[in-house]
Amino acid sequence: MKKVFRYLENRLLDEIKKIQKQSEIDLKSCDSELKIDAWRVKYLGRKSRLSLILKDIKNLDPAMRKSVGLSGNRIRNKCQIMLEKALNDLKLEENDQISIEDYTLPGRFNQVGKLHPVTQTLREIKKTFVSLGFQIAEGPEIEWDKYNFDMLNIPDNHPARDMWDTMWIDEEKNSSGNKMLLRTHTSPVQARIMENQDPPIRVIVPGKCYRYESTDSTHEWHFYQVEGLAVDRKLTFSDLKGTLYEFVKKIFGSDTKIRFRCDYFPFVEPGVDMSIYWEGKWLEILGAGMVHPKVFEKAGYKDPELTGFAFGMGPERIAMIKHNIDDIRLFYSNDLRFLGQF
Ligand code: PHE
Repeated sequence: MKKVFRYLENRLLDEIKKIQKQSEIDLKSCDSELKIDAWRVKYLGRKSRLSLILKDIKNLDPAMRKSVGLSGNRIRNKCQIMLEKALNDLKLEENDQISIEDYTLPGRFNQVGKLHPVTQTLREIKKTFVSLGFQIAEGPEIEWDKYNFDMLNIPDNHPARDMWDTMWIDEEKNSSGNKMLLRTHTSPVQARIMENQDPPIRVIVPGKCYRYESTDSTHEWHFYQVEGLAVDRKLTFSDLKGTLYEFVKKIFGSDTKIRFRCDYFPFVEPGVDMSIYWEGKWLEILGAGMVHPKVFEKAGYKDPELTGFAFGMGPERIAMIKHNIDDIRLFYSNDLRFLGQF
């Protein structure tokens, strides 16, 4: 390479090195977006010295192009990275300053997950009955009419079937003449348990139920029930009363009063409903009774000394009373402002 070229090459490489040093020094004093942008124009802009050197490479002697191009592009890339970092740092700094200085900004809330109020109530109910010696069982939500009705002493064409508006599954009857439905209560699980298990039985059955019903503030077309069943020799109505009284005291408080009145359910005899005295009023919270002999008969129980009691309650209703909620539909409308309160 001619001496004059060598000289020019060294001069350009020197200049590039100086540009690099100066760019670093300059950037340190850029404490605003505006200043950073001016820096960008100075070192990376189309008319910056670096861009001009790189643009002019094609006019250099071929022997110099490589070294000048390499080091020029290296510095250019470096400047690009420095620019991005400076902008990023500035943003972080601004955020920090805002959170420290602007106390009028709304706080940052942690999003904490919670259990649905009905789930919480169900858990409370289950815990209470487990502490009284009950086991927990479940059964299918899609059920045969045999369990939902027949085995509970509600034969086909019995007017009591009208007590439960039923959603039927659009299927042919099976070979034994049974039809499928969405269970209208958890009582069919009573029949399933007695069919498969010998006494003594103490069990509760939480689960979902469905009814063909228009909704209003006290009715949903889908809801939970907790069924209870106890079967043993010589169980009496006092056992039913004592069990439910213990339950009420645990859930609503130890000084809560209860009241029983006659009611009719085809699978119990006598049948009752139970109310609690709450804020000056009697509120009905469940149906119950002594297991009807016909139900034992259909389950295949033959021991004449066997008796039993059963009850069924709505956890939504219990949650509504406890938390003063006036519309059952709120539970299933997925409004987090409502659900987050519990
Ligand atoms: N299954 C009844 C209902 O849905 C409630 C009930 C259960 C009543 C057990 C008595 C005994 O209305």
